[in-house]
Amino acid sequence: MENKKTDTASALKDIISHAKEYGFVFPSSEIYDGLQAVYDYGQNGVELKNNLKTVWWKAMTMLQDNVVGIDASIFMHPLTWKASGHVDSFNDPMIDNRDSKKRYRADTLLEDRSALLEDQGKADEAKALMQHMAKCLDAGDLEGVRQLIIDQKITCPVSNTANWTEVRQFNLMFSTQVGAVSEDASLIYLRPETAQGIFVNFLNVQKTGRMKIPFGIAQIGKAFRNEIVARNFIFRMREFEQMEMQFFVRPGTEMEWYATWKETRMKFHQALGLPADSLKFHDHDKLAHYANAAVDIEYKFPFGFKEMEGIHSRTDFDLKSHQELSKKKQQYFDPEINENYIPYVVETSVGADRLFLAILCNAYTEETVGEGEQEKQRVYLNFHPALAPVKVAVLPLVKKDGLAEKAQEIVKEIKFAFNTTYDEGGAIGKRYTRQDLIGTPYCVVVDYQTMEDQTVTIRDRNTMSQERISIADLKEKIGHAVSMERIFEKLL
Ligand code: GAP
Repeated sequence: MENKKTDTASALKDIISHAKEYGFVFPSSEIYDGLQAVYDYGQNGVELKNNLKTVWWKAMTMLQDNVVGIDASIFMHPLTWKASGHVDSFNDPMIDNRDSKKRYRADTLLEDRSALLEDQGKADEAKALMQHMAKCLDAGDLEGVRQLIIDQKITCPVSNTANWTEVRQFNLMFSTQVGAVSEDASLIYLRPETAQGIFVNFLNVQKTGRMKIPFGIAQIGKAFRNEIVARNFIFRMREFEQMEMQFFVRPGTEMEWYATWKETRMKFHQALGLPADSLKFHDHDKLAHYANAAVDIEYKFPFGFKEMEGIHSRTDFDLKSHQELSKKKQQYFDPEINENYIPYVVETSVGADRLFLAILCNAYTEETVGEGEQEKQRVYLNFHPALAPVKVAVLPLVKKDGLAEKAQEIVKEIKFAFNTTYDEGGAIGKRYTRQDLIGTPYCVVVDYQTMEDQTVTIRDRNTMSQERISIADLKEKIGHAVSMERIFEKLL
């Protein structure tokens, strides 16, 4: 019986400890007790994350005729962030409790209260509270937000008091200084999104690549946000990675492209193995000033349906702002209609870490196997074979009689084709378990029959069934199963 752990909050705890124990994700600088909301990827985590980035990159650039990639710097001219609106309005409302000295996001305190009311069957009250909060935030009425917190009798979970400071806006950008000596130094920011690196290179790419609208520019890279409340493991981090694509279109056609990209991106997540009923679209109730349509693709994490990817129709807001501030024209001459215009943009933006978390949560499987006295629990990671950190483990049944050497020979033959590991330590059952725990789809066993007829057994991670095949067919058989093509063919 399969029991996928995706529903309860305790499931997240199991997944976090599994991720640590088996080399997927470690707390950053753990020997110094870690750094809040910053994580490191371990030996298996980095393979999984790289596979996710590769599959996204190829799906965007290789499978699309009209999307190319770039890799822009993390540091950008400070005016970039003035033009994008981040200097003035990339804020979260925060509030401090004077007794515990703990800082909270004011909107999160109210959202949590609303969720509680909903759980208590007071859906109308919950909705009214959210509407009231949105009204205050829209009007910049921070005192109104504070009053709501007081009226709701929300207390600090640490001090249990309602001794709150005023609500202040807190800019989420990290800043630092460039320049060797302090007098020459100027303030710059660590980019809070990768998108602006694409906007400022729009004309460079368009001209040097002779790109014709509609076309897209894709990028994968680090982004930084000084999140006030960091929770839910790698869901909300201060240093994270984004995979973004800006698609430049003729004004007036953006809603068609928005619909196309919504569908394309949903298909992508399903092709990676995320079940359709764990994914949904969530239209934004309130649009950002630059957008004329926005939707999130939400995944059903153990802590509920939450945003994994954002798809936004961003109009010409960014290019127009950059044109105004830089005084450099950001126009495209469209030969089909004989007109110059600033293109409109449809953006797709997914966090590599959030996608990683979704894939890990979905893969984490506990099941009971065997019957009667043989019954036992097993845990395995049910990754799509193309995403698994290790594709195949080659295991000699015993070390002696030339079996180990034969197994190593096989490793040498296949390791250039896909990620292969060798393990000769311990009972064969224990070695299978080790591979199940990191999600290796295939174990190849070299036994005495191998020495006679050049065949091996292949054990399947999910079904635990075994099949005997010739060593000569190994590369092709496994290569086919673990190829990213298996994902791409679902995108057509
Ligand atoms: N350029 C648009 C943009 O940055 P966003 O909704 O703020 O939009 C896009 O972020 C995606 O980046 C999110 O859907 C999420 O997957 C990821 N993301 C945002 N903040 C994050 C954080 N603090 N930690 C991890 N991922 C984050």
